[in-house]
Amino acid sequence: MIYPVIWQNNQAILIDQTRLPATSTTVAIDTYNAMANAIKTMIVRGAPAIGVAAGYGMYLGAREIDTENKAQFLQKLEAIAQHLRQTRPTAVNLFWAIDRQLQTAHQHSGPVAEIKATLLETAQQMQAEDVATCQAIGDHGLTALPQTPEQLTLLTHCNAGALATAGYGTALGVVRSLWRENRLQRVYADETRPRLQGAKLTAWECVQEGIPVTVISDNMSAHCMQQKLIHAVVVGADRIAANGDTANKIGTYGLALIAQAHQVPFYVAAPLSTIDFKLKSGAEIPIEERDTTELYQVGETRLCPDGVDFYNPAFDVTPAHLITGIITEKGVVNPGDLEHLK
Ligand code: MRU
Repeated sequence: MIYPVIWQNNQAILIDQTRLPATSTTVAIDTYNAMANAIKTMIVRGAPAIGVAAGYGMYLGAREIDTENKAQFLQKLEAIAQHLRQTRPTAVNLFWAIDRQLQTAHQHSGPVAEIKATLLETAQQMQAEDVATCQAIGDHGLTALPQTPEQLTLLTHCNAGALATAGYGTALGVVRSLWRENRLQRVYADETRPRLQGAKLTAWECVQEGIPVTVISDNMSAHCMQQKLIHAVVVGADRIAANGDTANKIGTYGLALIAQAHQVPFYVAAPLSTIDFKLKSGAEIPIEERDTTELYQVGETRLCPDGVDFYNPAFDVTPAHLITGIITEKGVVNPGDLEHLK
């Protein structure tokens, strides 16, 4: 199994996702500042993986606080939380994990040293829970997806795989479970401009496990659906509002519209922790804008002429009515029924 974050020798070891697939290497993180930087620069990325990384970031920060006074400790921990919160705005898992760690610290009645130890345990617990959650999502995908006499061909966008979680993946968790059950023929992976998480990361994961994968550029999905090459689309999520509107990697909304036009079912695979019940609709989800060099520069080469303006939103919101079902660790939910789960 691929694990993007592991805890070893008192530090977090991250797979450096900015260097895949050309170079398979890791980065050792032993301060909260280094962890914040790794999240911001996308050494670690994908909503649940960001959450797990932030959980360890909170422990690393707590470890650096040099006081036995509990009130002072909690005050400094809040500043560390605030620093980690500034890294990426869209994936709710980041805020969820930070808040869970803060709550753990506040509720603990023991001395500071014990609180620190509990924060490490909680980070490890969140990591283990996420792997189990993804496996459950994958297995619920088996019943959610169309039962066809032939093996399924799925299309996915970005990377919602083991690399984007603590392990196994959400959308790719469904892919892995179908593959295990001999129900999958092939995955089509959108390359996912501008950062190419599909071409680089999803393709890399599939190759690691021998899952047949075809990379297409983002503008080919309508053609593939028209050609009846795709049975269903399965994507991950960064944040789901209470009404089922779902933020995911830029391009997901367009894909959902294309799927609807071709009557291809469109599934979101995500843990319940990705649902943000505080937000009534997707219009309230903060959308990250990233550095525009991602759009016009490949390596050292500039693709566009000088004098051009750029716009680089990293996520978009797919309205709930375009989503056939949300595959969670507890089962498949109609996006319109999320409020009942609350
Ligand atoms: O910008 P990224 O690479 O962090 O975006 C990742 C995605 O959009 C994923 O689809 C999402 O986080 C779900 S990961 C299980």
